[in-house]
Amino acid sequence: MSEESLLPVSLKQALLSELSADHSGGLRVGSVSAAQIAQDFGTPAYVYDAAILRRNLERVAAALGPRVSILFALKANPNAAVARTLRLAGAGAEVASAGEIHVASHAGFDGQQIQFAGPGKDERDLELAIRHRLYCINVESEGEYEAVASTARRLGERPAVSFRLNPKDGLCGSRMHMGGGSKKFGLDATAIVQLVRRVKAENVCEFRGLHVYAGTQSFDAAAWVDNARGLVAFAAELERETGQTVHSLDFGGGFGVPLFDGDKSLDLAMLGESLQALIAQDARPERRYFVELGRYLAATAGVYLTRVLYKKESAGRTHLILDGGMHHHAAAAGVGSVIRRPYPIVAVHAPQAEVTSPYTLGGPLCTPADELAVNLELPELQPGALVAVLASGAYGLTFSNVMFLSHPTPCEVLVDDGAAHLVREAGRVEDSMRGQIVPMTGMSR
Ligand SMILES: Cc1ncc(COP(=O)(O)O)c(C=O)c1O
Repeated sequence: MSEESLLPVSLKQALLSELSADHSGGLRVGSVSAAQIAQDFGTPAYVYDAAILRRNLERVAAALGPRVSILFALKANPNAAVARTLRLAGAGAEVASAGEIHVASHAGFDGQQIQFAGPGKDERDLELAIRHRLYCINVESEGEYEAVASTARRLGERPAVSFRLNPKDGLCGSRMHMGGGSKKFGLDATAIVQLVRRVKAENVCEFRGLHVYAGTQSFDAAAWVDNARGLVAFAAELERETGQTVHSLDFGGGFGVPLFDGDKSLDLAMLGESLQALIAQDARPERRYFVELGRYLAATAGVYLTRVLYKKESAGRTHLILDGGMHHHAAAAGVGSVIRRPYPIVAVHAPQAEVTSPYTLGGPLCTPADELAVNLELPELQPGALVAVLASGAYGLTFSNVMFLSHPTPCEVLVDDGAAHLVREAGRVEDSMRGQIVPMTGMSR
């Protein structure tokens, strides 16, 4: 291997062994050959392994214990077949838009299994949430509470609301902070106290509890539990101040998944033990506790398959031009990261090859940003060969700017029990005109 290799071999190996025990004949997802999937369904394609989704959920459930209910954050992967797999394995759902409520109900979730977060819920979002009688709407501002209350009056419903706390200190050890200091997310503690009094006085909504979500890619178990401890302490203070019972606490998500060389692993066992101790100390047998996880449940379960279109040399580098790229997998092209590093990428015909040379991988978009790796060590690849971006089950398609250059969207495939199922059709060229209206006046010019 050349010295420029950026691929963390041990991380790559770990991801490969999650996917299958045997990749000797080429990459496998479960027991199914990735090359066969590409042949049957075409590329680019996202492929998800139901067994890994279930395994990830089981690991979290075992670590956190029976008092904690686990919600799947659909924003990480709003594919209804993925969500359904997790529902059947015991997860609830956390949604962030009317569209995600729609997906969750197609995935079979009952309203009482769903919680609704997000700082900018509009009238349409709230109406659907109220009509579906969600377990709670996690309210993030005073204006949002007023919008929930007025929609509830109009519909003659009595929705349950929780309030999202913006904790005074953000979550240490998390890569993207969504709490602490002045933030668009959540409410300061003093505002929550006033709103809970208002909910009681107005009696339009039911007060359910509290929510916190402080950041994603958190690798520091102790810091994560400290944040949860802060919510438990605030719940006690709120009950003292208002006399209202806090029925549920949602501690958020953000469990870190190693994606790059040097990433640590989250100590899930330690997090689980500390959280269970915290809940035992809270001594509230009737209270419900939740976590809402996206990446930790789905990331390792997915691969993005793309085919090499062209191979060319330029100024000392060998470039592979792929049929997929940042318009389908923005995160793998570095969008959202401060430092650009390649995701774990393998050649489908030889994912564990030892004889390699450096390739620079770019997608079809007319921007230098559409690059998945520079001088990445891969075995000999010619046009027609397949490469797979591992750890792509979360924040893949959902996080991507699919409109750019009007290429069709990729298909999505779920592997379960040794069979591959198409769970989202690929887009079509004609989709580039979907919903567009060409004016009929002035057309002669
Ligand atoms: C409110 C909320 N809940 C849950 C999640 C899921 O986070 P993660 O995928 O890091 O677990 C997010 C991610 O942004 C979020 O904003």
